[in-house]
Amino acid sequence: MQLVTSIPAWKQVRLGLGGAVGLVPTMGALHAGHVALVRRCRAENDVTVVWIFVNPKQFGPSEDFARYPRDLARDMRLLETEGVDYILSPTVEEVYPEAFQTTVNVEGLTRPLEGAVRPGHFQGVTTIVAKMFCLTQPRRAYFGQKDAQQSLVVQRLVFDLGMLTEVVVCPTVREADGLAMSSRNVYLDAEERAFAPTLYRALQAAERAIAAGERDADALRERMRREFSGRPGVSVDYVSIADVQTLQELATVDRPALLSLAVRVGRTRLIDNIPMTPPGAGR
Ligand code: PAJ
Repeated sequence: MQLVTSIPAWKQVRLGLGGAVGLVPTMGALHAGHVALVRRCRAENDVTVVWIFVNPKQFGPSEDFARYPRDLARDMRLLETEGVDYILSPTVEEVYPEAFQTTVNVEGLTRPLEGAVRPGHFQGVTTIVAKMFCLTQPRRAYFGQKDAQQSLVVQRLVFDLGMLTEVVVCPTVREADGLAMSSRNVYLDAEERAFAPTLYRALQAAERAIAAGERDADALRERMRREFSGRPGVSVDYVSIADVQTLQELATVDRPALLSLAVRVGRTRLIDNIPMTPPGAGR
């Protein structure tokens, strides 16, 4: 495994690579969710590149960029045992030199949900994804269902700009109690950690209600919200039942839907989702 931190050095490495290059984009602080992407990537490509870069452009001014967990030495040991070929982990100064002045923006899909609560976030994501795809020219790139809107936005970006990369979306990896794995889970104290699986439980309850015949999306949203009401230190950013492709909110759950939510538990913002097709509404 080779660690490359300089962009000019990486360009030389990339020019010498043959075969299918698979890319796993991450911000480090790796967990089993990331490892699942790496394993799938290794199985399907000749060369596996893991991108590790805490991207300042996708954090808002009041967000956790400064305290985001960083441990490259630990990430490297983990990726070495996974048989990764290259880690590409450039510095902020090299990715965004002073003269940097290009942004990449996906319009409609970035407006609701995360985009509504985190202005500028997706523009930061799409700009860095475009840059890393240019640098690595991947045959396939691996993303997680955990960040459902991000995966859709990247698929849109790749299609709209005619990139040759195939975007592969992998299932959400969870802790035994259902909490979706996230680098941010380390922020949770014991009490918050015990409450955190409520997100998945609320989503599952809505999923079961739909399977049992409930189609009124407002009733379902209300039911999910109730799980979080009256809890000190807990606030809901959004609860959503949306078309799984357009992310437009549904009135009636009559087509494949994305059930998703974002909840602040103390100082930590958690997101989770379940994609589901209501019985009889296959598309
Ligand atoms: P990061 O949060 O590190 O996540 C990297 C990838 O791992 C994303 O595609 C994310 O959806 C996936 N992932 C995270 N938790 C997961 C889980 N529990 N199960 C399955 N996959 C999971 O997402 C980013 O970084 C950044 O926005 C990035 C795309 C790297 C751009 O900076």
